[in-house]
Amino acid sequence: MDGLTRRRLLQAGAGGALLAALAASEGAAFTPPSRTGAGRSVVVLGGGVAGLTSAYELGKAGYHCTVLEARHKPGGRVLTIRGGDTETDLDGHTQRASFAYGTYFNAGAARIAPWMVTLDYCRELGVPIEVFVNSNADAFIHTGAGGPGVRFRTARADLFGYVSQLLTRVTRSGGLDAELAGGGRDELLEFLRDFGRLTDDGEYQGGPDRGFATYPGVDGGVPLDGPASLSDVLRSGVGAYLGFDLAFDQAMPMFQPVGGMDRIPMALARAVGADRIRLGAVVTSVADRPGGVEVRYRQDGRERMITADYCVATMPPHLMARLPHNLGDDVTTALRAFTPFPAGKIGLEYRSRWWESDLGVYGGATDTDLDLRQIWYPSSGFHAARGVLVGYYNFGTDAEAYARLAPHDRTERALSLGERIHGAKYRTEAMSSFSVSWSRVPHLEGAWAAPPYGSPAFALLREPAGRVHFAGDWLSQTVAWQHGAFVSARAAVTALHARA
Ligand code: FAD
Ligand code: ALA
Repeated sequence: MDGLTRRRLLQAGAGGALLAALAASEGAAFTPPSRTGAGRSVVVLGGGVAGLTSAYELGKAGYHCTVLEARHKPGGRVLTIRGGDTETDLDGHTQRASFAYGTYFNAGAARIAPWMVTLDYCRELGVPIEVFVNSNADAFIHTGAGGPGVRFRTARADLFGYVSQLLTRVTRSGGLDAELAGGGRDELLEFLRDFGRLTDDGEYQGGPDRGFATYPGVDGGVPLDGPASLSDVLRSGVGAYLGFDLAFDQAMPMFQPVGGMDRIPMALARAVGADRIRLGAVVTSVADRPGGVEVRYRQDGRERMITADYCVATMPPHLMARLPHNLGDDVTTALRAFTPFPAGKIGLEYRSRWWESDLGVYGGATDTDLDLRQIWYPSSGFHAARGVLVGYYNFGTDAEAYARLAPHDRTERALSLGERIHGAKYRTEAMSSFSVSWSRVPHLEGAWAAPPYGSPAFALLREPAGRVHFAGDWLSQTVAWQHGAFVSARAAVTALHARA
């Protein structure tokens, strides 16, 4: 199994579900600093969610903040691509999006779980949200052969059915007597009968929950053929894809801002104030001096310097590690202990929403064992004329392979593999594309940095180095989530205010 599963996200350091509850309570416990920061200045390195949140919260308390952001717009890894947007990667490939007005592609952050502090900021900043369809019974699991594969509802019915049948047989023949010595045998059998849609004899024979070839209406419809044998269902590999939406951080309902995820950093940036955010400002060194922090940066081809009482550094750790500073070798070593992890996505714009009209797929994702890994169907603009699919969302070696291709070749690969799943329309209806390989994005060079949890490095950077405090999703237990950036910014702001 090699899809976008819970296990792979955890391996990538992007899960953290068990610890997320802790982080959530950390977020909920946040008390904004009282208004006593007046007269103090803070320079914030990086204008992603962590940097903007630091400036926003410190600004509320009266600190004078200046955000230095290397890229041409704030938001960092919360990157929404719309028609007219241009990005140039580290290999010199420039792409210009030609998506129709009103459509967009969330190249980075895309979904939000209800428990995440991210939604509290949406509420506070007036960012409207809508449901993000994170799992869809009508989407497909494509393993092996051509064609779309099997719908999630069919795969689930068959696997749950057969596993329930097996457990029922073992239970009835006494194989679980020791485990059930304390009782519960009848309840287990009752549960399995319902869960697996078994006959009274404990057999799985399929049924309507697998889906229909012709849907029921005035008459009863035509059920799908099948089910295949137990061995065939197991060997198809669909089981590997069924647990994803059971995860604490991926379970429905999930949400997205209306109009694109960057509505969040845009709202934060507005609240901070455009005059406090310097764009195209590439930080080149940091020095902690007795009287304050001295930050050098390059903007418009000129070397500049800013001094402030304090600094909040939110740049990706592997990039911060390369920066000349006087914060100590232990800080550099600790920053290097965070390993950047690659991921990539492509937005494919279509002139028709054939996945809705032909397949009845409204949002959600198809999983595949091809290196595309996932195809996402949009959760907004249902029944509109056009739509933007995510044509692949992959990690690790798959993402590295796509990163090595020029954007045109990524599109070609995405279309030719997508055709195997969805047929000719996947190519003929396509209009334009835009791909992002996060390891090749200037000033980010990675999708997220896997933290060395429990290590001295992680603990060290949770503390300030002199007047420099660190923040970013990488310093939270919920890396690869904006929630992690928010709660880590709150922690840095709280610590900074306590000493100031
Ligand atoms: P960043 O966004 O990395 O901000 C750091 C900033 O520092 C950047 O803006 C960078 O340009 C700037 N910088 C770097 N070097 C310099 C320099 N020398 N000088 C000045 N500035 C500099 N989150 C969710 O909530 N939901 C999701 O579904 C989700 N999916 C994701 C999918 C992908 C593919 C990716 C890549 C991320 C995803 N995330 C998701 C994670 C989310 O995007 C991040 O957790 C969050 O944006 C991190 O914010 P940050 O401020 O900590 O870091
Ligand atoms: N948090 C990221 C996602 O859900 C990894 O895609």
